[in-house]
Amino acid sequence: MRDDTDPDLGPATDLAPAIDDDPWTALAEDWAAAWGGFAGPAREALLDAAAVGPGTRLLDVGCGTGELLADAASRGAAVAGADVAPGMVARARRAAPAADVREADAEDLPWPDAAFDVVTAVNVLHLADDAAAAVAEAARVLAPGGVLAVCGWAERDRCELDAVEAALAADDGEEPGPEGPLRREAPVRALLTGAGLVAEHLALVDVPWSAPDADALVRGLLLGEDAAGLAGRGPVVVAAAAPFRLADGSYRFRNAFRLALARRPR
Ligand SMILES: C[S@@+](CC[C@H](N)C(=O)[O-])C[C@H]1O[C@@H](n2cnc3c(N)ncnc32)[C@H](O)[C@@H]1O
Repeated sequence: MRDDTDPDLGPATDLAPAIDDDPWTALAEDWAAAWGGFAGPAREALLDAAAVGPGTRLLDVGCGTGELLADAASRGAAVAGADVAPGMVARARRAAPAADVREADAEDLPWPDAAFDVVTAVNVLHLADDAAAAVAEAARVLAPGGVLAVCGWAERDRCELDAVEAALAADDGEEPGPEGPLRREAPVRALLTGAGLVAEHLALVDVPWSAPDADALVRGLLLGEDAAGLAGRGPVVVAAAAPFRLADGSYRFRNAFRLALARRPR
């Protein structure tokens, strides 16, 4: 499920040890604190572009700790979520109590054909074993005329957090892994059209990531590392983050997510 060439929790955390086959459950609380708000601007842009409002039947695939479900529910949508990690599912149910949140893989969704008006996937597709299968499954549960809206990291030169990933790789004596293909527009478009959807809207959305101090910086970017890992690799993170340190001691990295909407033909 992990793609070690792509940022998932944040670029630096690619290099954090996977705790087991489900690295996410143990990280749910820390993820929500450090990263739960991160995709907020992309979520709002996505919900606006997909015209999510009262009565919209929406499924969020890889719903994580449920922030998008809560946002969509506050617009009056009837929301459902899917995530492979039981800890994320539990947390999402707390964030959006009215949502139908199920433990499920993106490639095998437990809902019938044509059940939703909008299916979303934010910062998730690059984690699927088979992104094309995940998009085909999303298209299956979309009603005719419905919209699939996906969002994920844009190319490296638009994402300042990649500087930390590069520094951690260098500290290990390695080059950064290759850029994941879904960070570019053409492969995302091809993925959507390959599932029979019609691409309608592609845009870049600014998603800055901030940390109030060096401790939060290290804990956020080394999510999943134990105390020894934090102590050993923390100084690498702090040094790499120096260009992004503000006068008040906080840190701010500018990044971009690529948003893509595609419609199922009627
Ligand atoms: C980077 S987090 C993003 C969470 C949320 N979408 C957000 O934007 O905050 C990735 C989430 O996708 C889930 N996930 C990873 N692979 C998945 C798969 N194949 N099917 C469903 N969920 C998956 C993880 O458990 C995790 O909750």
